[in-house]
Amino acid sequence: MRIGIIGSGNIGGALGRLWAQAGHEVFFSSRNPETLSELVEKAGSNAQAGTAEDAIAFADIILEAIPFAATMSLSADALAGKTLITASNYYPKRDGDVEVSAPSQSEALAQKLPKTTLVKAFNMMFADEMEARANGQTEDELAIFYAGDNPEAKTTVAQLIKEAKFVPIDVGSLANGHYFQNGAPLYAERWSKKEAQEALAQVKE
Ligand SMILES: NC(=O)c1ccc[n+]([C@@H]2O[C@H](COP(=O)([O-])OP(=O)(O)OC[C@H]3O[C@@H](n4cnc5c(N)ncnc54)[C@H](OP(=O)(O)O)[C@@H]3O)[C@@H](O)[C@H]2O)c1
Repeated sequence: MRIGIIGSGNIGGALGRLWAQAGHEVFFSSRNPETLSELVEKAGSNAQAGTAEDAIAFADIILEAIPFAATMSLSADALAGKTLITASNYYPKRDGDVEVSAPSQSEALAQKLPKTTLVKAFNMMFADEMEARANGQTEDELAIFYAGDNPEAKTTVAQLIKEAKFVPIDVGSLANGHYFQNGAPLYAERWSKKEAQEALAQVKE
């Protein structure tokens, strides 16, 4: 698969490395692509770097891992017809005031990107867990929740979660993304598959 990464920091850098290790072609991006040479070298021969525009054009599927305010300003035209995994969280202190005129962050983003298939994932997991997996330091069972409206895109994202050495747990439609956005009951937890399934069943009751 061709994977584009928008925001090659803690989250994007580690996940991109994991997917490159799994055999995917990974295109990291930055507002300053020349800063990514060390990351590309670490990720190996399946990786390259450039601008976000180049990453989007290159990829079948894109991960965004940037501040939420920047996510909400992504180009709807450039992302039309693409699948976007959204990993960002909205922290007003960091992001400033962002108009979220929808019940959840994922639905607010969907309003901004009406021609893009969205899957919310990875936002509820700690970057250090991704980094440890990219460095081959752990494969401890840890669940990652994901949500979306397109079954095919969700199947692909579930596979990418497994290839990042986590256990995918389907939370349902994109609107259900609110269950695991920051501040919600399923956010920022280190749970096994069983613990995650039990917690999900409880919040959905
Ligand atoms: N850290 C965590 O444990 C964690 C866990 C889950 C979710 N998240 C969420 O995932 C997102 C990324 O977190 P992170 O820890 O990976 O952050 P990070 O290490 O700071 O990386 C974010 C990247 O976004 C880019 N960026 C910053 N401001 C931008 C802007 N205005 N426009 C476009 N790109 C911009 C920067 O890349 P360039 O300067 O190279 O362009 C930066 O490398 C955040 O929304 C965060 O809340 C974080």
